[in-house]
Amino acid sequence: MKKNKFSKNWIIKQKRDIYIKKSKLEGYRSRAVYKLQEINDKFNIIKNNISVVDLGAAPGSWSQYLLRNFNNLKVISIDLKEIEPITNLFHIKGDFTEEQQQMKIEDYFGKKIDLIISDMAVNTTGNKSVDSLVTGELCIEAMNFSIKLLDQKGSFISKLFMGSSFNEIVALGKKSFKDVDIYKPPSSRKDSKESFIICRNLR
Ligand SMILES: C[S@@+](CC[C@H](N)C(=O)[O-])C[C@H]1O[C@@H](n2cnc3c(N)ncnc32)[C@H](O)[C@@H]1O
Repeated sequence: MKKNKFSKNWIIKQKRDIYIKKSKLEGYRSRAVYKLQEINDKFNIIKNNISVVDLGAAPGSWSQYLLRNFNNLKVISIDLKEIEPITNLFHIKGDFTEEQQQMKIEDYFGKKIDLIISDMAVNTTGNKSVDSLVTGELCIEAMNFSIKLLDQKGSFISKLFMGSSFNEIVALGKKSFKDVDIYKPPSSRKDSKESFIICRNLR
């Protein structure tokens, strides 16, 4: 292995360890929590007293972060998997792409929603283009749901991958929202094609 490739791998591993250790110390269920925290540090989207939907929430670190750091939030989460209970979180175990699950979320609030966040991703197949395509489809589904249910001043944050559907997702975001940003938080692994789209203020 070449020297710079070796040191690059070493740095990635160290960094990963830092976030994993930190999440354990702070009692978060996943290192993913720091991605949401870093997004919010930059864009200042999460506030007290808002309604939030957490899509692809398991094991639950994003919902933990919301309910631990902000007051009086109304949060619903959904995932294919069950999650260990979190105080004040209403969790649905189910497939977000099914209409009946989307209706459950809509009915839970009964009014427009302030923030929809999605970290949904498929189990990796090992084929990066297939993974990014399927995760892109989840992002598009989440964005269409957000366009329908967000308050005019609401926000949508979603994981996406640099891949074949990237341009389509950004175009859909720009068509429907006034402010659209792409951001890769420092805690997102450098060797991953993962990034996040942050959409604010519906047109
Ligand atoms: C990277 S994990 C989310 C980590 C989470 N944000 C946290 O902080 O703990 C991605 C999740 O997306 C979920 N997921 C994938 N497809 C989904 C679907 N169609 N409906 C609901 N959840 C889905 C997976 O089950 C997985 O738990």
